[in-house]
Amino acid sequence: MSTSYRVAVLVGSLRKGSYNRQLALALAKLAPAELKLEIVEIGQLPFYNEDQATEPPQAWVDFRNAIKAADAVLFVSPEYNRSIPGVLKNALDVGSRPYGQNAFDGKPAAVMTLSPGALGGFGAHHHLRQVLACLNAPLLPSPEVYLGGAGEMFRADGGIAKPETEAFLHKVMTAFAGWVQKLKG
Ligand code: FNR
Repeated sequence: MSTSYRVAVLVGSLRKGSYNRQLALALAKLAPAELKLEIVEIGQLPFYNEDQATEPPQAWVDFRNAIKAADAVLFVSPEYNRSIPGVLKNALDVGSRPYGQNAFDGKPAAVMTLSPGALGGFGAHHHLRQVLACLNAPLLPSPEVYLGGAGEMFRADGGIAKPETEAFLHKVMTAFAGWVQKLKG
């Protein structure tokens, strides 16, 4: 039996009809069998406040434990004003503390950005890569995933509308599985 890996998926949008959440759900279906994708919610996390470091809110503790329990992390995010949505930056900050106990440390990671616009969230994508470098999360270098045209991305059943896009995403998830295996053994 081949090893399977738990992948925590962080979605950078809280919107009920979020295209990025739809993408995360579609990825869970088209990923290779060894990757078990599970969305870890971030909307309930109180804003990081260092005054609460010694008595952290339970939601911070649960989130940190969920990341630590995962073998890898996948980020699926929109772009807000050419950067990362605040809710996602807050999750990264919460997970990175207490100092010396960064939950993302050494976690194989991959980034995807999806936008209705043509640039595919390029700005957010690279801001996220910058933060993850600081958090020592080894990032899948390639393929890079900037997806535009979010409004036309999905079929009514939630699948990826264009076969070529679906094939590309399958290729990305296969590369990510190889990346996780390489780093986790
Ligand atoms: C946006 N949007 C956006 N899109 C983009 O491509 N580049 C950008 O810089 C921004 N900036 C931005 C700021 C704010 C505050 C909002 C609310 C939206 C549009 C955004 O891509 C669009 O709303 C997506 O549908 C958001 O992703 P979800 O929620 O569908 O996953």
